[in-house]
Amino acid sequence: MERSLAPAVDRYFADMLAPADDVLAAVLAANAAAGLPPHDVSPLQGRMLEILARAGVAARVDLRVGNALDTLPRLRAEGRCPFDLVFVDADKRSSVAYLDAALALTRAGSVLVFDNVVREGAVLDASSEDPSVHGVRQLAARLAAEPRVVATALQTVGTKGWDGFALALVVSPDPAPPT
Ligand code: DHB
Ligand code: MG
Repeated sequence: MERSLAPAVDRYFADMLAPADDVLAAVLAANAAAGLPPHDVSPLQGRMLEILARAGVAARVDLRVGNALDTLPRLRAEGRCPFDLVFVDADKRSSVAYLDAALALTRAGSVLVFDNVVREGAVLDASSEDPSVHGVRQLAARLAAEPRVVATALQTVGTKGWDGFALALVVSPDPAPPT
């Protein structure tokens, strides 16, 4: 089958299982008008998040608003770690800094996910001047060289286009913080 059918397959299932919603459409239009990157999940992916929330984990959410490179170290200071799973879906140019922050909050056996590392194939362009491409290439090189993780990258297709995520297993813990 053609990869180009993937968006149509998304629409087929979305029309049945996660149909259009006027409020959501207005929010997405406002985000685009404000110049935000298209970091929203697709309707079917959103339904999956709704399912997780309805499975009873919503009460465990603790929302911290701010620059993650400021707020994440505070979680460690508060003794909130280690975390089992870290999903990074932030500005791509700072990906390596988020990896360092994630390693400080996890343990051997934790899983790290970094979204949008394929970027319609732009990740292949070593001479790209796009800071996001540069950031995900730096991340890939660091994941390859980082002895504390074993990593892979998986591609995805759908109404959100062609992208993918890097998946890393932490295999040894972060060194103890300086005392
Ligand atoms: C972009 C960022 C995202 O997190 C995403 O899911 C899709 C696109 C972006 O920076 O272009
Ligand atoms: Mg993303």
